Amino acid sequence: MRVETVASDSELNGRVAFITGAGSGIGEACALGLAQRGAVVAVTDVSESAAKAVAARITDTGGRATSWPIDVTDCESVEIGFAQIEEELGPVKIAVNNAGIALPFRVLADVPDEDWARLMSVNLAGVFHCLRAECRSMRDHGGGAIVNISSVLGRIARLGSAPYAAAKHAVIGLTLGAAVDHGEDNIRVNAVGPGFIGTSLLLGRHSAERLQALGDHAPLKRLGQPQEVAALVSWLVSDAASFTTGAYYPVDGGYLALGS
Ligand SMILES: NC(=O)c1ccc[n+]([C@@H]2O[C@H](COP(=O)([O-])OP(=O)(O)OC[C@H]3O[C@@H](n4cnc5c(N)ncnc54)[C@H](O)[C@@H]3O)[C@@H](O)[C@H]2O)c1
Repeated sequence: MRVETVASDSELNGRVAFITGAGSGIGEACALGLAQRGAVVAVTDVSESAAKAVAARITDTGGRATSWPIDVTDCESVEIGFAQIEEELGPVKIAVNNAGIALPFRVLADVPDEDWARLMSVNLAGVFHCLRAECRSMRDHGGGAIVNISSVLGRIARLGSAPYAAAKHAVIGLTLGAAVDHGEDNIRVNAVGPGFIGTSLLLGRHSAERLQALGDHAPLKRLGQPQEVAALVSWLVSDAASFTTGAYYPVDGGYLALGS
């Protein structure tokens, strides 16, 4: 069998990219990274001011971006925001479903109802609301590439992590299901699993000693940077990744390789 040359173009050439939770951390790094590669970025976040600031950083450096306040827990906010973005920028060809929260870890017996409901609402229902809107549009417009941000806790659990781990495992299930359902529509859907990354989600919850210990636990002996997650996302949504779908990619400094 003759091996054809594989598309190696990783430039995004004016494609419209929709990113949730893009006002800080990993989402912000994805917005900056995709804009740098030529995407027109819809920077969305529940915090309107944070989304605006990131869009301004992009446009100030010659990139193309606009901002929208979208709360992923609110299906109507997603549907209306997504439709407005497409009306203004054209069909979304790239999507990064990144918005997420973490709450204080507690052993299962002590998890309050409201923690469970909040984590499921943001980290799971939020991904579903966006993924459905994206698949509906991409199905009608010749396809696209989607990345869902899961976690290493989408593969394993740690003490006190049950609700967060449940949501992040389910994000991988949604990813596989969507990839199977919409492969025929030329829609690629992959999940990325960050390890411990130095963003406000992590830095705001732990002491300096604890952060040091979390970093030291990974084989690479440090926390990851949001840009290191964004680099993988940028590749997955590019044409260079044209035969990848329905897969989970860790970006965790080797954390999962430890197995314990
Ligand atoms: N930082 C880590 O160590 C780590 C590890 C594994 C997975 N993750 C995942 O990466 C994703 C990004 O996290 P981060 O570390 O960049 O955190 P972050 O707190 O820096 O950023 C999260 C962003 O999501 C936004 N957001 C929160 N609720 C929202 C909602 N309802 N609708 C829309 N936006 C909302 C926040 O305003 C914020 O801008 C999350 O899904 C998180 O679970 C992070």
